[in-house]
Amino acid sequence: MDPLQELNREIQSCKRCDLFFSRRRAVCGTGDPKPQLMIIGEAPGAREDETGIPFVGRSGRLLREVMGMAGLDINTVYISNAVRCRPKIGKSPRISEIRKCSNFLRSEISILNPQILVPMGNSPLRSLRSVLGIDFGPISEVEGIIFSLGNIFIAPQYHPAAILRNPKRYERFKDNFSRLREFVDDVRRMDSGEIEKNYRIRHISGA
Ligand code: URA
Repeated sequence: MDPLQELNREIQSCKRCDLFFSRRRAVCGTGDPKPQLMIIGEAPGAREDETGIPFVGRSGRLLREVMGMAGLDINTVYISNAVRCRPKIGKSPRISEIRKCSNFLRSEISILNPQILVPMGNSPLRSLRSVLGIDFGPISEVEGIIFSLGNIFIAPQYHPAAILRNPKRYERFKDNFSRLREFVDDVRRMDSGEIEKNYRIRHISGA
């Protein structure tokens, strides 16, 4: 079987934490199986739990809107989550749930081999801490920065739910996605020296 299909089967039958008792469906990632860009959200909400598809609720609508305005084709990215089952209603996933689910993110990144990761919010940053061994700190301090780790770039953004809660952040969120679109194009056509000249990249090294 194809490694991504195999991974998705494992996700769908996972019982590693208690969220499996209350979930209707575990939600696998979706999108281009050879993506340049991978977006990582927090965890499924009610609509995602019902449908088994990531980002189909209010946050998903906002994400699609800003991606569309930026000219980022949703079909050329892969969209996934830090945690694959719906957390307790109204709660963010616990650290223990993020850690147990981080193996899935690690496998997904190694199968899909994206050039750019976009963790949206604190939960995916925490998951990347387990996966990459890097403590990025809180999203409020790293949003909009482009990090480089070996041959992968990491461009954290606020989660769309944070924008819905605080609409003052909308313009910047939208602009960040436009910049991201330019970056995606430039990474495709420029060599690393040109990228360095055109962007302020923060270099980091893993554990
Ligand atoms: N929010 C997320 O972080 N992920 C989803 O899949 C839906 C909403």
